[in-house]
Amino acid sequence: MNDLLPDASGRWEALEEIVRHWLHAYGYRNMRTPILEQTRLFTRGIGEVTDIVEKEMYTFTDGLNGDSLTLRPEMTAGVVRAAIEHNLLYDRPQRVYSLGPVFRHERPQRGRYRQFHQIDVEALGFAGPDVDAELIVMLARLWKILGLQGMRLELNSLGAPAERAAHRDALIKHLEQHKDILDEDGLRRMYTNPLRVLDTKNPAMQEMANAAPKLFDFLGEESRAHFDGVVARLEDAGIAYTLNPRMVRGLDYYNGTVFEWITDQLGAQGTVCGGGRYDGLISLLGGKPTPAIGFAIGMERLLDLWGQGGLAPQPECDIYVVHQGDEAQRSAARIAETLRDAGLSVIVHAGAAGFKAQFKRADASGARAAVILGEEEVSGRVASVKWLRVDEQGNTAPQQQVAWEQLSQYLVSKA
Ligand code: HAM
Repeated sequence: MNDLLPDASGRWEALEEIVRHWLHAYGYRNMRTPILEQTRLFTRGIGEVTDIVEKEMYTFTDGLNGDSLTLRPEMTAGVVRAAIEHNLLYDRPQRVYSLGPVFRHERPQRGRYRQFHQIDVEALGFAGPDVDAELIVMLARLWKILGLQGMRLELNSLGAPAERAAHRDALIKHLEQHKDILDEDGLRRMYTNPLRVLDTKNPAMQEMANAAPKLFDFLGEESRAHFDGVVARLEDAGIAYTLNPRMVRGLDYYNGTVFEWITDQLGAQGTVCGGGRYDGLISLLGGKPTPAIGFAIGMERLLDLWGQGGLAPQPECDIYVVHQGDEAQRSAARIAETLRDAGLSVIVHAGAAGFKAQFKRADASGARAAVILGEEEVSGRVASVKWLRVDEQGNTAPQQQVAWEQLSQYLVSKA
């Protein structure tokens, strides 16, 4: 779990602003749900036999009433719970997004943290395939806005429940035939979650996993048509993809379209975004059967990638006001308010110090100008403006005296 310090947070805020603008362009509206939910929301929603539920959740008993609570390990379940609870979908579908922290007890490494942040996007009440493709096109646009290179799209279809059941039977037969090479996880999951057995990193099981019956081959006409509908629209948008029939995703609520955006530039944790359709989740959690699809982007991974382009840390303010003497300090405070009225960001040096120390602070703040109020200035109702930054030719604008009444106009016009 990371601390985010002021020098780094400017990049987060800049990214969040771009992201909100991008989401707005597609009609998504913000919603915020609690970070803490009843544990059973996640065990039911995400699935009992998943890595997240089996070993990654921060779960504890509420000492006041004995409830089992869990820090959210993802946002979809909470968003769906809230949509049901507040009858959000009663007259129309909803496009919603949430930004915020999620928690998984994983082994930390670059790009993998125990508290990380997601940009979570959910299209509730849409059957697709149009919206499936729109979400993917929307992501391609974000990569373009951020100037990210080398983002690769992997796509699969997990079909309908009956198709998965038929595939599951065939898969269990296949696993039974290769029982001797299954590891402990594989043996434990072969009847409870056989698809996840194929997701193994164990080299000894790769050949068996490659030869296993593929879910994609069990898809019926409707599922195929849906998938083809997505693919046709991706082709319209000129978005390349690879079919990855082994992609299962780490959460059990998915059906039909699933996808991941992956990069080679982040080392082992290269999945920047994952998502898919979850047509069964809303009814599973007690709502009316409603189709839905969504995705989540890992903020830390996205920032890591974006940071490779470089971005200077943000200045603390536009204007730093230095002053000498009690009366000048009080004038400085009043003048700063008028500058803020004009839209400038202003720091007034706090406390008393010599000019030299104050100028040092002004410089470190990143401000464009220092406004100076000494005894002489106060008696003449003027301020001296000292420009702190050099222009492209390496010159600094000359120091100026400006009347208090003209100061904000002068500073804004020089911005
Ligand atoms: P997910 O694939 O579990 O999907 O997570 C989405 C993204 O969160 C990943 O692609 C990755 O970028 C980031 N992420 C996951 N674990 C970590 C970690 N330990 N540290 C840093 N980043 C991480 C979901 O969570 C689904 N709720 C997505 C979704 C929304 N599906 C439908 N709607």
